[in-house]
Amino acid sequence: MSAARLTGTKYGCGSGGCGACTVMLSRYDPLSARVLHCSANACLLPVVSLHGAAVVTVEGIGSTKTKLHPVQERIAKAHGSQCGFCTPGMVMSMYTLLRNQPQPSLEDIREALTGNLCRCTGYRPIVDGFKTFCGCCQNGESGKNCCGGGPSTLCNGSSDLFHMNGVLPLDPSQDLIFPPELMLMLQKGGGGRLCFQGNRVKWFSPADLSDLLELRAAHPNAPLVVGNTNVGPNMMFKGDVHPLIISPGSVMELHTVSWGKKVPSGAVCLHRLSLHPLYWQFSVAVASYKLTHKLPFSPFAGGTREVPLNEKFFAGFGRTHLRADEVLLSLHIPRSQPWEFVSAFRQAQRREFAFSIVNAGMKVVFKEGTDTVQSLSIFYGGMGPTLLRVKRTCEGLVGMSWNEGLLEEACRLLAEEVALPPTAHGGKTEFRSILSLSFFFKFYMQVVQELREKNEVPQGHQTFQVYLLTILHPSHIQMVSEIQSSKDPVGRPRVHIAAFQQATGEAKYYDDLPAVSGELFVFMVTSTRAHAKIISMDFSEALRVPGAVTFLSARDVPGQNRRLWFNNTEELFAEEEVCCVGQIIGAVVAESREQAKRAAERVRVTYDDLSPVFFTIEVRARILLTVHTSGEASDREHFETPLICGEMYMGGQEHFYMETQGLIAVPRGEDGEMDLYVATQHTPDLEVVGHTLGVDSNKITCHVKRLGGGFGGKVMKIASLSAIAATAAYKTGRAVRCVLDRGDDMLITSGRHPFLGKYKVGFMNDGTILAADITYYSNGGSTLDESSFIMEKALLHMDNGYKIPNLRGHGLVCKTHLPSYTAFRGFGGPQGLTIIESNVDLPAHQVRAVNMYSEEESYTHHRQPFCPRDMVRCWDECLEKSDYSSRRLAVQHFNATNRWRKRGICAVPLKFGIGFSKGFYNQGAALVNIYKDGSVLVSHGGTEMGQGINTKAVQIASRILGVPMSSIHIKETCTGNVPNAAPSAASFGTDAVGMAVKDACEKLMKRLEPVMKAYPKWTWSQWIVEAYCQKISLSATGFFMGPHTSVDWEKSEGAAYYYFTFGACCSEVEIDCLTGDHKNIRTDIVMDVGKSLNPALDVGQVEGGFVQGLGLYTIEELQFSPDGALRTRGPNQYKIPALCDIPPQLNVHLLADSQNPNAIYSSKGIGEPPVFFGCTLFFAIKEAIAAARRESGLNGRFALSSPATVEKIRMACVDRFTEMVCFTSKPGSFTPWAINV
Ligand SMILES: Cc1cc2nc3c(=O)[nH]c(=O)nc-3n(C[C@H](O)[C@H](O)[C@H](O)COP(=O)(O)OP(=O)(O)OC[C@H]3O[C@@H](n4cnc5c(N)ncnc54)[C@H](O)[C@@H]3O)c2cc1C
Ligand code: FES
Ligand code: FES
Repeated sequence: MSAARLTGTKYGCGSGGCGACTVMLSRYDPLSARVLHCSANACLLPVVSLHGAAVVTVEGIGSTKTKLHPVQERIAKAHGSQCGFCTPGMVMSMYTLLRNQPQPSLEDIREALTGNLCRCTGYRPIVDGFKTFCGCCQNGESGKNCCGGGPSTLCNGSSDLFHMNGVLPLDPSQDLIFPPELMLMLQKGGGGRLCFQGNRVKWFSPADLSDLLELRAAHPNAPLVVGNTNVGPNMMFKGDVHPLIISPGSVMELHTVSWGKKVPSGAVCLHRLSLHPLYWQFSVAVASYKLTHKLPFSPFAGGTREVPLNEKFFAGFGRTHLRADEVLLSLHIPRSQPWEFVSAFRQAQRREFAFSIVNAGMKVVFKEGTDTVQSLSIFYGGMGPTLLRVKRTCEGLVGMSWNEGLLEEACRLLAEEVALPPTAHGGKTEFRSILSLSFFFKFYMQVVQELREKNEVPQGHQTFQVYLLTILHPSHIQMVSEIQSSKDPVGRPRVHIAAFQQATGEAKYYDDLPAVSGELFVFMVTSTRAHAKIISMDFSEALRVPGAVTFLSARDVPGQNRRLWFNNTEELFAEEEVCCVGQIIGAVVAESREQAKRAAERVRVTYDDLSPVFFTIEVRARILLTVHTSGEASDREHFETPLICGEMYMGGQEHFYMETQGLIAVPRGEDGEMDLYVATQHTPDLEVVGHTLGVDSNKITCHVKRLGGGFGGKVMKIASLSAIAATAAYKTGRAVRCVLDRGDDMLITSGRHPFLGKYKVGFMNDGTILAADITYYSNGGSTLDESSFIMEKALLHMDNGYKIPNLRGHGLVCKTHLPSYTAFRGFGGPQGLTIIESNVDLPAHQVRAVNMYSEEESYTHHRQPFCPRDMVRCWDECLEKSDYSSRRLAVQHFNATNRWRKRGICAVPLKFGIGFSKGFYNQGAALVNIYKDGSVLVSHGGTEMGQGINTKAVQIASRILGVPMSSIHIKETCTGNVPNAAPSAASFGTDAVGMAVKDACEKLMKRLEPVMKAYPKWTWSQWIVEAYCQKISLSATGFFMGPHTSVDWEKSEGAAYYYFTFGACCSEVEIDCLTGDHKNIRTDIVMDVGKSLNPALDVGQVEGGFVQGLGLYTIEELQFSPDGALRTRGPNQYKIPALCDIPPQLNVHLLADSQNPNAIYSSKGIGEPPVFFGCTLFFAIKEAIAAARRESGLNGRFALSSPATVEKIRMACVDRFTEMVCFTSKPGSFTPWAINV
């Protein structure tokens, strides 16, 4: 598609795991004489597989130049597009659904979006926009009949933030038609065998089944590619090579589904099953050419054999016992018989769109009319390389009655038979073993119940109620005052100014820019060792790859081979020694990205391993930096009983911005000038490029149009990547493009710091915290990067909203042999806040009210004065709006009446510092130009990454200049216009840029004032022409000199922040104690954003931040091998929140009547603070676990580390099953599959 310049379809992962590349695929089905539409991941679709198919991309359905499609319009107007990188994929999934179902239900929409990830929005606005297509909404139904289930305003999709007035109606008659020539071609029979020959692969598409068998017999090693979701990723990422591929897409026999008279009862569970074959009782029909050859007149009579789909069918992981020349023809699923009970179970890391960790299929047949087991079959997936049949257990239970005795015996036998060695592939061995017992217990209970009801038809195992997005509430927002001019956009929920371009695919990201003539591609070569001396690098093989141009290493850097950051240096290319897996040691430049990648794989590096090697925080011998103590003394008298001592670990987090890092470096061929088109949050990073090339910064121009998400991850590493790409451009004299693959991005750029907090907290009897002494350890990785500042922020947030008279903090950044951890939304704040929060674990109305700051003039632990009034208001409103007290009672009631499911509810307040504690960064600059036609161009130093900084800047300019937003444009962030900008970070971007834009506009208005006064009745355009004629400058710079914040760490005091953003959040969850699964039930957030500049954008930041926090605290888990290599390198291994994870009730309220004299128009920074609210889910889960543990007689405190994954939840819910699976191997006595860092 890039060759066709159709760049709307995005590339987020290349492995089918994110949905950014979704397109609609349509095929004519001659059997049903219908056109079938399905959404498909373009990244896994070989072009040659599309013969006869029509592909519709986001560009095909509408554009801003012609007409938007209603789907594009509604996602944009509902504020469902922030950075916009996921938006085309979302649009195409929804569009395809509407093609198949013009009046879908909410559940249909939810299912259609299952495979589409968004890292920015939190999904609520996307669903808000799309649910207006629900049948009920389109037909104007109201109240209970509507999917919104509420007042009629919801039924037509309108809310305070989003109005349906004047939106385009859905008109299926306007949809693209299927190309008649394709239909004609397929009606005629499609033709014979097709063969496509590429440089490396030959692709056959057989005409029919016998042709397929013939090809299969001739090429037994060639894979059959159908969906390519298995073969494709293996070829792309695992180096599988298939010179010949057979694609049976046009073989009709393989596409038919036929149903018997009755739906088999066992099959009801299938849709919840993993796709991997599991059912032992299914049979598989297989056809082979050799047999058919003997029977030429009846190719399949006798040419097929039927084999049971059991453990013998599978030879190993991804392998079966089918003969090489055989083709799977059909899968037969038999019906259940009377007195036969069948069920299936699975547990995955994320509730949907995730491989199961363990799955199981179970069947019991009773002697008729009894509860005596006649036969029992239990199969597990995920308990070994292939299907595991627990034969001994099953045989041992035959003849027993289905009662407690059988359960006891079954668990005993299972515990023996499923035991996994601690070194097993995939890790989580204890969890997996316990899960297999839990699944059996669930099956047992289910059958007991069904036997009791004397109902012979199993209903499927009880699970959480099917998740329905019925009551995602549009948020309650502030309104502007009645006297504000209707033309003044400030304070109104204006749509993101690029939302329509993002929804149509017209919005350009760095990799969408057309190739510059002669452009090359650079691919990084990274270290495979954690700590080693580089002995040699042999790139001769790499340069023999066709298209390879050159190899780069430290020797090729004309200037300095290092990135300097506050006296901390980091090598661009490792010179002598490597200090982590993933460190860049060289780079290959080639004509295309495929060639560069292929060549990079051929670089041979020899190492001499060095010791010691550290990966974990606990190793304190290698402290990189110690941050000084802060707060009062914590002498012994303050630590009176009750005293709590403990520790809490918080894992790291991957940014997983949907657009991976990269840039294009274009040498201008004169005086060392170079242009960089780069996805960075910090344009002055070009200084690093200057140092690398030995060129002054004035020769290097950095252009940033927009970022497909940043979250702090595009500040530091992108500077090194820019310097490397620039070096390649310098060496070759040609433009060079660098785009990291998702796997490399995750490996090289790293993410949020893992933290360990060790604490000692003294309480009074009423719960008042008297003293706390906390030592934070962070895993800094191999270089300091921003780790010290991040640790400082953690320490500065350790009090949260609590007045703790004696508080002492100590922060240590540990150097390890991992890629260097870096900035991530919140910047240490969430880690700092969480540790203290983990100690305030009594009900909100008791402890939190006792400990919260309350005096009008309060002082933080670093002696910064502030007024906590609005924090207390947020807190009170949150408890009230969430109905905390009565829901708490309901939770207690639920827990008292349910043994295997428990609920928890948790509320937390928040005080979050805004601005940089390094005071010099608190500045902003802008340039505003007015052109002779009256149009306005705003430039500023911030970067647009979805947060809406450009929209807010235009709103501000519109207010001051008095021109409509449509007359104001922001083209890009460019160092040629605004130099020396601070990073767009610390929730301070709009504060800084907004003030600077205001300053520039005010200067212009001052200059225009005489003209306006002289001609009061003239229009804006006339004033501008007149001003031009009077030689008045129509260009002005604006500057904002923010506060000089600083902290004296010796004295432990200082005004670290400009001001504080406050909030409060309450969440309720339910856990399945047997599997560790959890469901987020409801979240209420009250946020103080001052007087919001744009409530839609601010609510979007709150929801998006909260959902990122949801991932941080409950799902997202990075795994490292024991030798320090990141295992989780893509969306299939690393799970960020998907639509299924969002609480069905997510209510965001903006605090009314809040003022903030410190920032632009009394607003407040909001980007980072809400991430912390994800901890409410964590602590609610912990409370639910505590309830489960009490059932087992465990009443004391217990440790739970973040994220609260299914594994950790299950393991903490200690019960008879966890005790049955005992592990004797001591940590350290074996090499585990993965380690905690
Ligand atoms: C994002 C993503 C999520 C996924 N989630 C899950 C999940 O939750 N659960 C799960 O189980 N899997 C999951 N998978 C894996 C994938 O869906 C399965 O492996 C699927 O079964 C592969 O089907 P395919 O047609 O796309 O495979 P292909 O890549 O086209 O090939 C499949 C293999 O089957 C063989 N084959 C195909 N047809 C025949 C035939 N007729 N006779 C004999 N051999 C044949 C081929 O030779 C090839 O080796 C996921 C994959 C992706 C990319
Ligand atoms: S699913 Fe195709 S790029 Fe992610
Ligand atoms: S808007 Fe969805 S990923 Fe940014």
